[in-house]
Amino acid sequence: MPYNKRSGFFPALRQGVAIAKKPFFILLLGIVMMAATAAILRSYTSERAYGLDQNQCLLCHGNPDLAKTNSNSEKVSLYVKEEFLNTSAHRYIDCTACHTATPHQVDTPLTKLSLAQKCGTCHEYQYNLHKESIHGQQLLQGNADVATCVDCHSPTANPHNVIRVLEYSAPAYRKNIAETCGKCHRNETLMGRYGILEKVYETYMRSFHGKAMRLGTYEISRLDKATCTNCHGTHDIKSLEDPQSPVAGMENLARTCEQCHPDAGAKFASGFLGHKEATPQYFPGVFFTEIFFLALTSAVVALGVIVTGLAVIRWGINRWKV
Ligand code: HEC
Ligand code: HEC
Ligand code: HEC
Ligand code: HEC
Ligand code: HEC
Ligand code: HEC
Ligand code: HEC
Repeated sequence: MPYNKRSGFFPALRQGVAIAKKPFFILLLGIVMMAATAAILRSYTSERAYGLDQNQCLLCHGNPDLAKTNSNSEKVSLYVKEEFLNTSAHRYIDCTACHTATPHQVDTPLTKLSLAQKCGTCHEYQYNLHKESIHGQQLLQGNADVATCVDCHSPTANPHNVIRVLEYSAPAYRKNIAETCGKCHRNETLMGRYGILEKVYETYMRSFHGKAMRLGTYEISRLDKATCTNCHGTHDIKSLEDPQSPVAGMENLARTCEQCHPDAGAKFASGFLGHKEATPQYFPGVFFTEIFFLALTSAVVALGVIVTGLAVIRWGINRWKV
């Protein structure tokens, strides 16, 4: 394009700019851009949904009313919520990877045990540990009160809503673990059935570790205090009666503290109350020391109040005299 002294290099461009300054054109451009953005977003989301559901299972399983009766004659919803799939750790895995290409010919008992077994087809390591744990052992006996995989891995206890361990909202994220165990372990009726009378959640939250975890930020490096799983294990949680439990016996307990308190030793561990509250029967030393210090602090505070009060009165009298 030849150089033109009057209109610069691009006379057409100048004309273009003049048109572009017209309000109508700006409006039109805005509409076109919005439509294009919507189209891109739509294709992006529908592409993801397609990746998840390559066989269009959601045509039927996207229906909230779809249900069946399982082997324990309980009604189980067969609804698979698309929203759950989109945030799941398994969002890039198709239905058929877990359910086979002929899902309706597979026996799916839909119990807490069969769920763990299905997760275990891929996560064999965690499954084998869980199977030997107090929770897993009870599941094998058909007890549905105990924890299966999704009780600790899904905020809605749904197999299609398992989220990554390091997401802040994950039930297995360090800061949330006490809350996750607490769903069952602070339920007094449920625990009473198994003779577990100690208020394990409440005592933990009152402990140094519990307070520090609650007050700490979500930053993983700041969450280095002990939570339930540091003392009891994760997939391999054992009954207290099992000599392999990391909290059974002073020797095991000392080793558990030593993970984070080097050279803790049995003496350090024996000062630990566990979940017991200090009472005259358990830990009389601690109980009476606590009472002594409570009395001492109260006395000091009371004395301070009296001394200050007297000083104020003295000052008042002095002023009044003058
Ligand atoms: C035409 C509708 C339809 C489609 C498409 C469909 N399902 Fe089903 N699905 C059902 C019905 C109805 C049941 C309940 C069957 C029963 O009562 O035994 C069911 C049950 C299930 C169950 C529960 C276990 C069982 O054996 O009952 C699973 C798991 C399942 N479907 C997975 C899938 C997967 C994965 C796909 C895609 C590959 C799929 N379904 C496609 C209608 C459908
Ligand atoms: C990462 C593995 C995985 C993927 C992917 C997956 N599922 Fe499942 N699904 C499971 C497990 C585990 C169960 C529990 C089975 C049991 O209890 O025996 C289950 C159960 C079901 C059930 C029974 C109802 C329920 O919620 O327990 C249906 C229906 C179902 N899945 C359909 C689907 C459909 C449709 C898709 C794809 C959109 C899908 N699943 C993707 C693992 C998966
Ligand atoms: C009592 C709670 C609980 C149960 C039940 C549970 N998990 Fe976990 N899981 C956790 C916690 C907490 C973590 C975080 C990592 C850690 O502390 O070891 C985790 C981590 C994981 C991980 C990430 C890899 C790893 O080991 O760190 C996978 C995969 C996993 N679990 C699968 C399973 C499967 C499969 C089941 C069922 C057979 C299951 N979990 C049952 C609490 C549980
Ligand atoms: C078909 C195999 C398969 C099945 C069945 C399966 N998973 Fe997974 N799971 C995977 C894969 C693969 C990943 C890693 C996904 C990624 O990194 O994108 C994963 C990731 C996870 C994670 C995240 C680990 C982390 O590092 O944060 C957890 C937790 C988990 N699965 C638990 C489960 C549970 C609970 C079930 C049963 C409801 C289950 N999985 C069933 C294959 C499977
Ligand atoms: C610093 C280590 C530590 C932490 C953290 C911890 N525990 Fe314990 N836990 C113990 C010890 C030691 C015992 C055995 C002594 C006792 O019962 O007090 C125990 C006992 C238990 C028992 C059995 C109680 C009974 O009466 O049979 C349960 C259940 C339990 N803990 C769950 C939890 C839960 C849930 C959390 C988190 C909210 C948690 N623990 C945090 C050390 C710990
Ligand atoms: C879905 C409910 C549920 C969840 C979630 C759960 N538990 Fe349990 N847990 C139970 C039940 C029920 C028992 C009693 C089983 C029995 O004694 O037969 C039990 C037993 C135990 C025991 C053995 C107690 C004893 O008397 O020896 C320990 C320790 C324990 N759980 C720790 C934990 C920890 C730590 C977590 C979290 C990481 C957790 N549980 C999550 C239900 C749950
Ligand atoms: C996962 C790591 C971890 C485990 C396991 C652990 N602690 Fe701690 N604990 C910490 C951290 C971190 C602190 C904070 C230390 C600090 O700030 O000085 C702490 C602080 C404490 C404190 C109060 C502060 C202090 O240093 O005096 C006591 C008491 C304590 N722990 C006792 C125990 C006992 C007893 C056990 C074993 C039953 C145990 N801890 C197991 C990480 C742990």
